[in-house]
Amino acid sequence: MTRPRAAITAVHGHLPDYILTNQELEQMVDTTDEWISTRTGIKERRILKGEGLATSDMGAEAVKGLLDKAGVRPDEVDFVLCATVTPDMKFPATANLISHKAGILNAFSYDMNAACSGFLYALTTAASFVESGKYKKVVVVGADKMSSIVDYTDRQTCVLFGDAACAVLLEPTTEEVGVMDHQFATDGSGYVHLHMKAGGSLKPPTYDTIDAREHYIYQEGQAVFKFAVTKMAGASLDLMKANNIPAEELAWLVPHQANMRIIEATGRRMGVPNEKVMVNIQKYGNTTNATIPLCLWDYEKQLNKGDNLILTAFGGGFTWGAIWLKWAY
Ligand code: ACO
Repeated sequence: MTRPRAAITAVHGHLPDYILTNQELEQMVDTTDEWISTRTGIKERRILKGEGLATSDMGAEAVKGLLDKAGVRPDEVDFVLCATVTPDMKFPATANLISHKAGILNAFSYDMNAACSGFLYALTTAASFVESGKYKKVVVVGADKMSSIVDYTDRQTCVLFGDAACAVLLEPTTEEVGVMDHQFATDGSGYVHLHMKAGGSLKPPTYDTIDAREHYIYQEGQAVFKFAVTKMAGASLDLMKANNIPAEELAWLVPHQANMRIIEATGRRMGVPNEKVMVNIQKYGNTTNATIPLCLWDYEKQLNKGDNLILTAFGGGFTWGAIWLKWAY
């Protein structure tokens, strides 16, 4: 018997109501709308406000909407995989809390952390469960409350990130659609440029780590920028070459939304014109694990069955990679 492929059969997101604009950031740190717009492409981002609300609350809303949309009952879901760098707690996994809040009772669930590449790594992991033939309804959630690890006194990082969640449903198919191939890589030496200094087993929280503001994102922007462009374009081109897909046959490039200049440079290197590159960074900023599914959600009406998509991301680790996906509906 031939193995099924794993196809995305629905996508649904959740965005918190609060909109943090560049103008509001101008009141918080020494920055300008002009700097943020020209250097990053971001105009506004969403922030999850409210006591006791966390990543799982956004994830659960996205999953509930997803199941409604797909006409799938929560008890039919087999597996929930959550990609996040901002879990509600160190344990248990946020995926478990999402399942609980979404009324999913018959599934197993856990989290994955590959920073901004997390959604892509999670998508291929979940796809292999579907391809095994054993699992029929698998949910992949990319969710991050980045505002919980952003230092709003640091102008170099606080303008970049936003909060959001977005989920996809994966189901088996015998058609030539779905997750077709992928190319991933990791370089752990890159951690020096992008990490959180304290809060892990290396440096558990103390009064000193809090005073030194070490529980926030630390990023050397320029170093990350250079790697991001080369690695996203490189992985995507390698994947296209291995599968004989010329740039003209791509319907869409779906890049991680970290910086408009990174997105444009990646598209240029790959020979993909701007009108075929999904972009929503202006509205949401970098939502880490939610950026790629949020693009699919925003552009869903423009997608057609059989469209060739390249999804590509780069993030802390360093981690990077690309997926070739054929849209299934
Ligand atoms: N407003 C005004 N000025 C600022 C701001 C700001 N918000 N932030 C930095 N500046 C200043 C700097 O202090 C510097 O001033 P100086 O020349 O007087 O020293 C100047 O602007 C230029 O700073 P650069 O860091 O060189 O600016 P750059 O053009 O590189 O843009 C940015 C910075 C936006 C962070 C960019 O480097 C970037 O996008 N990097 C990649 C981010 C990324 O892809 N991250 C990966 C994913 S995140 C994850 O995995 C969790």
